[in-house]
Amino acid sequence: MIIVTGGAGFIGSNFIHDWLRANHEPVLNLDKLTYAGNLKSLANIEADEALKLRYRFVRGDIGDRTLLATLLAEIKPTAMINFAAESHVDRSIAGADEFIQTNIVSTFNLLEEVRAYFSQLSASEKSAFRFLHISTDEVYGSLSEADAAFTERHQYAPNSPYSASKAASDHLVRAYHHTYGLPTLTTHCSNNYGPYHFPEKLIPLVIQNALHGKPLPVYGDGQNIRDWLYVADHCAAIRAVLANGRVGETYNIGGRNERTNMEVVNTICALLDELKPRPDGQSYITQISFVKDRPGHDRRYAIDASKLESELGWRAHETFETGIRKTVSWYLANQAWVESISSGEYQTWMRAQYENAAS
Ligand code: NAD
Ligand code: DAU
Repeated sequence: MIIVTGGAGFIGSNFIHDWLRANHEPVLNLDKLTYAGNLKSLANIEADEALKLRYRFVRGDIGDRTLLATLLAEIKPTAMINFAAESHVDRSIAGADEFIQTNIVSTFNLLEEVRAYFSQLSASEKSAFRFLHISTDEVYGSLSEADAAFTERHQYAPNSPYSASKAASDHLVRAYHHTYGLPTLTTHCSNNYGPYHFPEKLIPLVIQNALHGKPLPVYGDGQNIRDWLYVADHCAAIRAVLANGRVGETYNIGGRNERTNMEVVNTICALLDELKPRPDGQSYITQISFVKDRPGHDRRYAIDASKLESELGWRAHETFETGIRKTVSWYLANQAWVESISSGEYQTWMRAQYENAAS
């Protein structure tokens, strides 16, 4: 069995679906169920007699060492994949406490318990075991338009409390490999999008606000660039790194799909105009509203995934055009999921973040 942490979040839940389709090995999902964790994203598994035999959920914090020690001793996992984190840049700017706690302190506690577990494995169990840490491209900082894309050798230069906390956890993971020989792997992926994405992030937020006749908030001049990867491509890359990545190495993951935020928002509007036209015949583009910029807003991210492609033969299958069409269609077909996870806490966050956001 493998353990996935943060498996009720956006990428973690997609990964569990993907893993159960691609592997026979069962998976245990350890998740604290913060505002971003939703078991409804895994409801298909719970409803499937065959799948649920290979899936187990435990509610808990990656910083709870007693729980971790018990689970590790009981499960004897062959791998742990650490998705659990506070992940939203804007929330880290509004208040970073939870980011420091989960992304740094709790990740340290997790590493300590995994180290203790690893130390008592047999030689053959040790050589099979992997700890895969899911990091982000944001630890590399911001690029200008003329800069080459981030490689794995790019200097760390995190700019937000979120990316700084992720960078700290990366350094801990690196140190646990270097000092204690823990067989770690670290991945740095670019911006993901796809099903089960919490509607506080740009793409699902724009889809939802558009459908509800609300403003589509674009920060600053809308010319910031992100490098978008469809989440299923990310999941396939993680499986490839887990299976064949070299221990102690880091791998960038990205599909060479750089787009400005305005291009992203315009594309979503055009798709909605086609798939769910507004009753008044106007384009959703009329709902776009430029708002105050994010403080310290990184201008551009771009990932060079050559190492992953050449060493492990991974390739992204979706272009931005195919992936965003699938995503918009998924949200149109799954409004019940969105409604079910848009709790009071979500409404409070949206009011606090956007009510006085006019630029
Ligand atoms: P998310 O916010 O959607 O989900 C995070 C999950 O972690 C939630 O289910 C939450 O309940 C859980 N969690 C939070 N704190 C926890 C704790 N202390 N103990 C146990 N569980 C806890 O995040 P996501 O977008 O799915 O991102 C997953 C990982 O991928 C994160 O580490 C993030 O930094 C990284 N990442 C995300 C992206 C992206 O575009 N979303 C890109 C690259 C890397
Ligand atoms: O690059 C990987 C990172 O991508 C992950 O590590 C983070 O966990 C993930 O949240 C994401 O971070 P971003 O800050 O890039 O994603 P977000 O969807 O919040 O914003 C994307 C871009 O859109 C960014 O330039 C800010 C802008 N934006 C965002 C929101 C929420 C807007 O213009 N308006 C908005 O309302």
